[in-house]
Amino acid sequence: MLVKTAEFLTSNTKVDKLPAPTLPEYAFIGRSNVGKSSLINAMTNRKGLAKTSQTPGKTQLINHFVINGDWYLVDLPGYGFARTSKKNRAEWERFIRRYLTRRENLQCVFVLIDSRHEPQKIDLDFCCWLGENGLPFLLVFTKADKQSGVKSDQNIAKFRKALLSWFEEVPPHFLTSAETKQGTDEILSMIADINSRFEPPVIENN
Ligand code: GTP
Ligand code: MG
Repeated sequence: MLVKTAEFLTSNTKVDKLPAPTLPEYAFIGRSNVGKSSLINAMTNRKGLAKTSQTPGKTQLINHFVINGDWYLVDLPGYGFARTSKKNRAEWERFIRRYLTRRENLQCVFVLIDSRHEPQKIDLDFCCWLGENGLPFLLVFTKADKQSGVKSDQNIAKFRKALLSWFEEVPPHFLTSAETKQGTDEILSMIADINSRFEPPVIENN
């Protein structure tokens, strides 16, 4: 898929204020600083579309972007940000879980995982929560340019193996880099494929 247009639409903290669920939607989620916003910029070829930062916790709202006038890409705040308060973290969890479980046009959640690290409990727990709630997800390993391909492959294999303790089948994965754009075409192809099967939800007028 060629990205012809990519526009910022809205930032929200309220699930009931989100854009009408008429287009297929894809959400990027993962630990703070894993590279969600950077990957969105790399995929769309727009450097400053999603705000990035070296300081974890940059993205704090549900940010909607509309791509080719055709589908929504959503940048979410990261989880596991150590320097936030317990109360903030609990609020984040409630808010994101509400969004993920109620958004009827959400086609797929892209769970971003840092390819440099061994499997982390917080990422495995989050995948399990998605599975328990019947939410389809795909795995996206980030920052591939930061180490050898062998190292990335080892960490991916360990993560997939860990998930097999809970899942009969592990969803497909992508190995990506926002620096080199590795993996971005594959993600866009996957989205194009899902888009071709999208039927808008029936919206009740009452
Ligand atoms: P929050 O919004 O805070 O949750 O973070 P985020 O997941 O959106 O991460 P962001 O895209 O802001 O990137 C965090 C840092 O990692 C920035 O300094 C990026 O430049 C860097 N980064 C992200 N992706 C890559 C990558 O693929 N390669 C390299 N080398 N650096 C990356
Ligand atoms: Mg971000």
